[in-house]
Amino acid sequence: MYRTHNCGELRIGNVGQEVTLAGWVQRSRKLGGMTFIDLRDRYGITQLVVEAEADPQLVATATSLGREYVIQAVGEVIERQSKNQKMPTGDIEIKVGSINILNKSVTPPFTIEDESDGGEDIRAKYRYLDLRRGPLQKALAIRHRMAQEIRKYLDSQDFMEIETPYLIKSTPEGARDFVVPSRMNPGQFYALPQSPQTFKQLLMVAGYDRYFQIVKCFRDEDLRADRQPEFTQIDCEMSFVEQEDVLKTFEGMMRTLFKNVLDVDIPDPLPRMSWYEAMDKYGSDKPDVRFGMTIHEITDKVKGKGFAVLDGAKYVGAIAVPGAAEYTRKQTDELTEWVKRPQVGAKGLIYIKLNADGTTKSSIDKFYTPEDLKAIAEAAGAKTGDLVLVMSGDNVRKVQNMLGVLRIEMGNRLGLRDPKVFAPLWIVDFPLLEWSEEDNRFYAMHHPFTAPKPEHMDWFNSDRKEDLEKVCANAYDFVLNGTELGGGSIRIHEAQVQERMFQVLGIGPEEAEYKFGFIINAFRFGAPPHGGLAFGFDRVCALFAGKESIRDFIAFPKNNQGRDVMIDSPSEIDQVQLDELNLDIRPIVQQ
Ligand code: AMO
Repeated sequence: MYRTHNCGELRIGNVGQEVTLAGWVQRSRKLGGMTFIDLRDRYGITQLVVEAEADPQLVATATSLGREYVIQAVGEVIERQSKNQKMPTGDIEIKVGSINILNKSVTPPFTIEDESDGGEDIRAKYRYLDLRRGPLQKALAIRHRMAQEIRKYLDSQDFMEIETPYLIKSTPEGARDFVVPSRMNPGQFYALPQSPQTFKQLLMVAGYDRYFQIVKCFRDEDLRADRQPEFTQIDCEMSFVEQEDVLKTFEGMMRTLFKNVLDVDIPDPLPRMSWYEAMDKYGSDKPDVRFGMTIHEITDKVKGKGFAVLDGAKYVGAIAVPGAAEYTRKQTDELTEWVKRPQVGAKGLIYIKLNADGTTKSSIDKFYTPEDLKAIAEAAGAKTGDLVLVMSGDNVRKVQNMLGVLRIEMGNRLGLRDPKVFAPLWIVDFPLLEWSEEDNRFYAMHHPFTAPKPEHMDWFNSDRKEDLEKVCANAYDFVLNGTELGGGSIRIHEAQVQERMFQVLGIGPEEAEYKFGFIINAFRFGAPPHGGLAFGFDRVCALFAGKESIRDFIAFPKNNQGRDVMIDSPSEIDQVQLDELNLDIRPIVQQ
């Protein structure tokens, strides 16, 4: 038997017992002839002690142990002289009688402790060593716990877990596909699913009523902290439901997760906000509602005082930053530079300070009297001591979006975004369609299977752009602390409505038949009314743990260039494979 206990379980009650432990040497140190060894496994760390007067052979072995050696130690549990309150096993140590080296280790490239001295790149290259560290072990443990809770909840609600294929045809989620060449069908390619969307709808046609899957999805898109090229969805679909049924079911799932994993109670029912309100007040379809500082339109308040920039703007909006009137000129200049960065894209930033002594100071003092400035600031929701930040432009949504980005930045700077505070909500009433000036056509805001609201069917069937822009979708997003955790919709289940949708999107009958013929055809065989949603599982785990980056919640993630630096992938394939696939690689043109 390799061990009687793990490295995280021995307590004061075990004192006097003879035990065998196995694990990795995190560190060893000598102190007045005694050797102390921190022995680690995924359950914790237990201190081993080899006394000075122990068998010289044993002392020699203990002294020879390097970091990350795998050892087995037999000894007696004793009470520690100096207890360590920070460790669950800190009341005891093992007085070692024998050590068996199970395997040696070369010196690891970084320290494998909660705080490591290794940079991101080196830790990524040796991910299996990084995964030995406590924070990553905790991250994967929370992921495991969540997956179990999700399965338990969905099973209790009659959902069936059904797997869908990975080698499929393109799915319309708006990103680029990863493609896989087919050897048996030369010149043809599978696409890896961006989501199981079409298959889960076909399962509804097939009568499975309630489906779920914790499933890998693949999207070839630019990466960020909360995006990976392969990620996991909690993907769900239900038949004979309306929007209300779906929201209720998945609020229930999230409530259970919050309670069972974090012991946090979330409101019942969850707040809901229309997409329009979210955009107007927060400049984002994923508002962080943990703090105020909402956007106020002040277009009418600023006109007619001779300041051409604002007089000519279609929209002027502002946020009031609490208590920031004391910002220095240097700080407001820095903020102006910050919003001019390409990531935000503003042309400039106007400020108004409502000083504590009742005076005002503004970058537009020249055009506005102190009374004007006070009136504007008040309209922006400011109080004495606040700093009002103003942006303007002709594209209303764009200005709101920039103000939204600034709002989040100010929230961060003022420490208003506490990761331990959770403010979940539903965003509802999305527009069905999004007009692209560039392509001169509509795109589906969610995806082309999303149903228009029944009361908007007249607009949906109209040929006027203004009417089509007004159509709302039966779609919803689950948002937590400024991150979109999930989204879904009630689907179109009638073939003629689906055909009209393709027509609106400029997808001709031939293209529709080629891309989606199978699903249009399936809808002709008695498709039930249905709807569903998918949560980003990696994001749910990260946010529950109070983190923004999903990378540590994935055992083997990709870096920002989409590479796995540990296995060095993607990589070239050899000529034999290329020949079998009937593929030639063109000379690579560096962009
Ligand atoms: P959607 O495209 O909104 O909907 O995706 C659902 C959720 O998946 C997560 N997500 C990602 N997580 C990590 N990395 C990525 N690259 C990534 N892309 C998306 C997000 C998102 O909210 N088929 C529909 C769902 C439906 O209608 O039922 C879909 O995939 O958290």
